Amino acid sequence: MARVLTGVQSTGTPHLGNLLGAILPAIELSKASADESFLFIADLHSLTQIKEGATLRDNTRATAAAWLACGLDTEKTVFYRQSDVSQTTELAWYLSCYFPYQRLTLAHSFKDKAGRLSDVNAGLFSYPMLMAADILLYDAEVVPVGKDQLQHLEMTRDVATRFNNQMGETFVLPQASVQKEAQYIPGTDGQKMSKSYNNTIPIFTEEKALLKMVRKIKTNSLEPGVPKDPDTCSVFKLYKAFASKSETEDLELRYRAGIGWGDAKNILFERLNADLRPLRENYKEIIDDRAKLETTLEEGAIKARGIASKLIEDVRHAVGIQSFVN
Ligand code: TRP
Repeated sequence: MARVLTGVQSTGTPHLGNLLGAILPAIELSKASADESFLFIADLHSLTQIKEGATLRDNTRATAAAWLACGLDTEKTVFYRQSDVSQTTELAWYLSCYFPYQRLTLAHSFKDKAGRLSDVNAGLFSYPMLMAADILLYDAEVVPVGKDQLQHLEMTRDVATRFNNQMGETFVLPQASVQKEAQYIPGTDGQKMSKSYNNTIPIFTEEKALLKMVRKIKTNSLEPGVPKDPDTCSVFKLYKAFASKSETEDLELRYRAGIGWGDAKNILFERLNADLRPLRENYKEIIDDRAKLETTLEEGAIKARGIASKLIEDVRHAVGIQSFVN
């Protein structure tokens, strides 16, 4: 088993698509790995887009609480805030000096953001170097990411190779691991669940609000008693993502027999609420205990810095940032 590392941006409260597509698979992966894995909140990356200090901090706190509430085991996973490891920004600088400007101008994600955002800052441009530093600092071998991050991983391997060739073997080359096409989680309007479509169901939604959201899920206007097609129905797809195989088959039969939308939605709500209730309760407890949360992240940061500080010494030495006397 290899050393697994991944970063998550702190974009506030995660939704069911994040839970099934990223959070639970990452937690499973770290449980399955014999080695320690690394998971950090990429607050320095979030700073490229979030300019309100309180928002940045609250998002980081909410993200940390969310992962812990969903079962992240900090015995097996070094869990920390990126900004707590200052070696990251130092390494990002060294890496920038070994990577051609021209290559960074080819980054899809930068071009995409530059076309979309009003605040096109230099941090957005050098984002891939910071991400390379996150990874190379810990000799990470496997990096689970979404497809949109593959080019960043390529750049990480590229800069590591350039540095190793010019300055001597220093970095381990990481491998991206793209999740197999995760199941499609529809939002309340039937499109893919995503913050940018405003159609999400947040994981920790209170019971009443959850019921409201489920009731709002878009369906067709077929009357009760008329057979319905489960495969094109968002209510059914969401149910399937949480229910067991036999529960799913039962609901499928009821669709074919003409279940009414009210009943189908109640069934979905009960299933979701049963699964989410314990997570919601965990979350409440964790998010309100700021001191404990701070300590948890600080413990992770101590471990992370222990590793990072050794690697940064090697890099300083390799580039010639050295003492005069030895
Ligand atoms: N850029 C990643 C994203 O937006 C987050 C991230 C930052 C990351 N540093 C990383 C992911 C290092 C993996 C490894 O999803």
